[in-house]
Amino acid sequence: APHFDFKNGILHAENVPLPTLAEKFGTPLYVYSRQALRDAWEAYRVAAQGRDVLVCFGMKANSNLAVLNEFKNLGSGFDIVSGGELARVLAVGGDPGKVVFSGVGKQAWEMQAALKAGVKCFNVESEAELEQLNLVAERMGVIAPVSLRVNPDVDAQTHPYISTGLKENKFGIAIEEAPRIYQQAAQFKNLNIVGVDCHIGSQITEVAPYLDALDKLMLLIETLAGLGIQLKHLDLGGGIGIRYTDETLLTPTTLLDHVFKRLEARKLDYLQIVLEPGRSLVGNAGILLTKVEYLKHAEAKNFAIVDAAMNDLIRPTLYDAWHSVEQVCPAGHAEVRDYDIVGPICESGDWLARERQFALTQGELLAIMSAGAYAFTMSSQYNTRPRAAEIMVDADRYQVVRPRESLESLFASETTMP
Ligand code: LLP
Repeated sequence: APHFDFKNGILHAENVPLPTLAEKFGTPLYVYSRQALRDAWEAYRVAAQGRDVLVCFGMKANSNLAVLNEFKNLGSGFDIVSGGELARVLAVGGDPGKVVFSGVGKQAWEMQAALKAGVKCFNVESEAELEQLNLVAERMGVIAPVSLRVNPDVDAQTHPYISTGLKENKFGIAIEEAPRIYQQAAQFKNLNIVGVDCHIGSQITEVAPYLDALDKLMLLIETLAGLGIQLKHLDLGGGIGIRYTDETLLTPTTLLDHVFKRLEARKLDYLQIVLEPGRSLVGNAGILLTKVEYLKHAEAKNFAIVDAAMNDLIRPTLYDAWHSVEQVCPAGHAEVRDYDIVGPICESGDWLARERQFALTQGELLAIMSAGAYAFTMSSQYNTRPRAAEIMVDADRYQVVRPRESLESLFASETTMP
């Protein structure tokens, strides 16, 4: 990754040596590269150029205000999944007119907040939700813009936990059911049908699953037109993968070139295309910096016990995810061994990487790479561990964009019973 690179044998974030940040702010520490965010955005901007495309950052991947503000300034919209995420968008002055609201379980208060803000669209996932949204809109005397999330039943060929487009999972409406439910939606007085959406999975590296989904959605759009229901946009969700190790990548340009070719062939290119990328905008813009506390050479295994843990980065534990690990100052006089990099939490599942060859020394720094997406946002305070600080680097400058939590703050609002 060009934004996290070695200079004079020391790993840097842009122009800042990581040991400097570790010394100043402690570890574990999340470090983001501002330029990496900009470059990731640029790939989408170039791909979209001259076409009617709205990119809504899937902010569940990284919702730090500094990250959101960067994307807002670049012109991004946002894909939100909660009233909390909406509040973050509003806090950075994001344009609600570029916000799509996803999620299977939107509550009435969240619908109300989103209607009040004036979001672009509600991505509705069930008949019951349609009914509730209509009711909330009616009470407020407004019209809610809606899209139905359909489940195109395609295999995104990714990890089963992050594959969402297959029939058996909780998301969306079966595509065969969609025409009937659209007709029902058209009957609701306080709903305005504006689009259709899908999200088939995450960490996708091939264009084929997207095109399978697109074909099914185009057929649906034509069926709906025949029923007098005209859509304005087609939202293909997120899902473009990043390089964790040696994956060959699907680029936004490849995706959109293929998509628009098919739309044009069917004369459907009047539709606006909405995308909801999360991981591909932030995943490789962040690392998790951690210190080796102890080395433990047991009979069966060698362990490097570090000060980051599954509460900081749960992806390995949860998905068996592979994150590459770099020594920040590879010195190399220690013995090379196979190490499991593990945290201090009282769970066997508390590991960050397994069986990696390193010549490690106690006290040295490691960087867990590709930790810009689904890393801090999925962190917790398990074992009463304060969540790590987040730093944003911009060339030679850096700023704490979220301080490390204090121990006291972790239980300050708890009370004991008399
Ligand atoms: N849109 C919807 C409706 C989604 O559910 C998601 C992610 C996205 C967009 C963004 O997808 P992306 O471009 O990031 O693939 N925690 C897992 C990933 C869960 C993804 C959930 N939905 C992980 O760490 O791999």
